[in-house]
Amino acid sequence: MKDAQGNAVSHHAADAVTALDDAVGMLNAFRGDPVGMVADALKAHPDFAMGHIFLGALFATAMDKTFEPHTRRALTAAEALLGAANERERSHYAAAKRWADGDIAGATEAWGRIAMDHPHDILAIQFAQQGDFFQGQSLMLRDRVLRVAKQWNPSIRGHGFVLGMLAFGHEEAGEYGRAEALGREAVAIEPRDAWAAHAVAHVMEMEGRVPAGLKWIDETSAGWDPEGLLAYHLWWHGALMRIDHGEPDAALEIYDRHIAAGGLGQALELVDASALLWRIWALGHDVGARWANVAEKWALRLQHGISAFNDVHAVMAFAALGMDAEADSQIATLERAAAGEDTNAMMARLAGLPSARGFAAFGRGRYAEALSHLLDAMPRAAAFGGSHAQRDILSWTALEAAIRAGDRHAADALVAERIARKAEAVPTRMWLRRTQALAD
Ligand SMILES: [Fe+2]
Repeated sequence: MKDAQGNAVSHHAADAVTALDDAVGMLNAFRGDPVGMVADALKAHPDFAMGHIFLGALFATAMDKTFEPHTRRALTAAEALLGAANERERSHYAAAKRWADGDIAGATEAWGRIAMDHPHDILAIQFAQQGDFFQGQSLMLRDRVLRVAKQWNPSIRGHGFVLGMLAFGHEEAGEYGRAEALGREAVAIEPRDAWAAHAVAHVMEMEGRVPAGLKWIDETSAGWDPEGLLAYHLWWHGALMRIDHGEPDAALEIYDRHIAAGGLGQALELVDASALLWRIWALGHDVGARWANVAEKWALRLQHGISAFNDVHAVMAFAALGMDAEADSQIATLERAAAGEDTNAMMARLAGLPSARGFAAFGRGRYAEALSHLLDAMPRAAAFGGSHAQRDILSWTALEAAIRAGDRHAADALVAERIARKAEAVPTRMWLRRTQALAD
């Protein structure tokens, strides 16, 4: 059997392979229920190795230890079937297993290698891009897709999704024109392609094009919102643009309707929740009772320690609420992680700990200390992954801390940095006024 892109699949049942093709298409677009689609196929074909591997990889890459039982169950089932699997499938298993065991760097390279050997293996390309994303490997987000993109053409199913991944890669590499053109092309091919729509939203965010960004979110949401697995994150981008537009209340309305309304059931949603509430709260706005719900969900993950990026976002919620014991406990989790040897150990050491200490100090009103930690974190912040737009919360908080600490020189410097990127944004203009009012 062959899959939709022509890669050999060891299983004999056409309906199982078709179900996987459909699930991969859903995952490419970040929509629908790819897990349910494959789980149903596995009920009829429990010996479908690539189905189990797909689920194991999907759960592992969700960056949430809450899903670990699902990951282990799927990988255990897959392992028992590897004898009949082909080499490509065994390599997928090995990559997913490495990620599940904490070797995110090794898993990403393993998927990247599969894509070299099988350039039409869209699942390998996508998981490798997720791996580069979660490690903040800005140039690899572009280059790994470039390695295979020329081998694609519109006759191959999923071609538009490859353009969308390339768009995001160019965006994180700072090549905004190319990113926008490719992202728009991909969305024109498939309006449900949330990843491509997301790449264009990032371009708008990075270039400070607020009205164009709001229009883009508004115009494309009919494609990526219904059944959208990434809708909460695209709305998060829309909320950031609302803040830049001087409408924090509209940003909170987006939070209520599109981010928190889904129940904040996974770590990646909690990251966006913290990141949005923190930005608004740090500007001095009241965010009401929203923090408590976020902190409660993070508290369930206090000891997980699998993602420094997540842990830092948990600290934001605890710090904002004055939950000092929880903030300290989360920092202790980061310290334990930093002493390890997996990918997260490096993330925790280079970026996680100084960031977490910065947010915790900010919550305690120790602004000079917060500034110092955040300045330490910023040069190596890419190490804990995410996008430039997500990591901008460090610069955002450092500037606010500098102003509150009355540190005119640091505030001047940091506000100059923001003016270069986002002169028109309302928070920038507000920070500039407050900075100029500080004593020299
Ligand atoms: Fe994003």
